[in-house]
Amino acid sequence: KRIGVIFGGRSGEHEVSLRSARSVLQALDPHNYEVIQIGITLDGEWVVGENVLEALEQRQTQHLMRVCLLPEPGHHRLYLRKAQGNHIVLEPYQSLDVIFPVLHGTFGEDGTLQGLLELAGIAYVGAGVAASALGMDKALFKQVMQAHHLPVVDYLVFTRTEIETDRSRVVEEAEALAPYPLFTKPVNLGSSVGITKCHNRAELMAGLEEAARYDRRILVERGIDRAREIEVSVLGNEQPIASVPGEVVPDEEFYSYASKYLNNATQLLIPAPLPETLSQEIRRLAVAAYRAVDCAGMARVDFLLDPRTQEVFISEINTIPGFTEISMYPKLWEASGLPYSQLLDRLIHLALE
Ligand code: DAL
Ligand code: MG
Repeated sequence: KRIGVIFGGRSGEHEVSLRSARSVLQALDPHNYEVIQIGITLDGEWVVGENVLEALEQRQTQHLMRVCLLPEPGHHRLYLRKAQGNHIVLEPYQSLDVIFPVLHGTFGEDGTLQGLLELAGIAYVGAGVAASALGMDKALFKQVMQAHHLPVVDYLVFTRTEIETDRSRVVEEAEALAPYPLFTKPVNLGSSVGITKCHNRAELMAGLEEAARYDRRILVERGIDRAREIEVSVLGNEQPIASVPGEVVPDEEFYSYASKYLNNATQLLIPAPLPETLSQEIRRLAVAAYRAVDCAGMARVDFLLDPRTQEVFISEINTIPGFTEISMYPKLWEASGLPYSQLLDRLIHLALE
């Protein structure tokens, strides 16, 4: 099989994607797969050639060739895009059996890339357009969970315009939601960017403003004191299965972008130390959430556990979770008896089902 691995991308998680892709590329067995590396630069250029991953890591992509996809189902083909005088000439490059998008966040994990691949008629690993989009939109995601009677933390959604023009009403409504602390988040960004834990009104105002820098819609969420962060890996199409739950133990007050990626103090406990009944319940909820958004291939479902009441809340679904060999998604499968390279085989198989 000829498999195109896409990485990089126009998102705040470009670097994370490169790290995930390095692990994926190393683990794909060259006897089973012919791998075509496809890089997406921070500017959104699609590039191929020698050592694409290294070129993106070093931000030196000038020497690479530009490629594109066209909406022509049946050809599964990439085209080299060459400038010739005033013209752009397309030259057939490679046909692909399947694409593995190893892209996190905007323009990769949010359904936009998936839409392009649908138009091009190329099979791909992971969730389709709708599930990808729901996974990236924290407000719509919660609404779908609620429609399925699945537990989410209390929240409100405001627009940037409301925050700019009607600040006092927004603050009043937010304060009526729950006592401090409250979290403010952009509806659409991943990896904890733009998120603030607000302990009082001044921090709430600053948090709303900060979140509004990143998105047109802002989520205010009840904070759960010392919430434990539990994660479950789900795999499959029509018959999804759940891994054992894992726990993330951050070293900072909450799971911030910095603690997630910039230091190694974050600890993963696999399996999470939980009573068996709670563990089973969380696995059940993970599969229910996965089905509720009509996910396919894979996802990591993240939970918050209130240590006081033992209540469980679904916090998000990551349709392209971090995929380095030390990331939670593959680690949980390893602990559940599925090693990294076999996990890749399964995902590619599911993409072609
Ligand atoms: N968004 C990162 C990659 C994750 O959820 O693992
Ligand atoms: Mg995420």
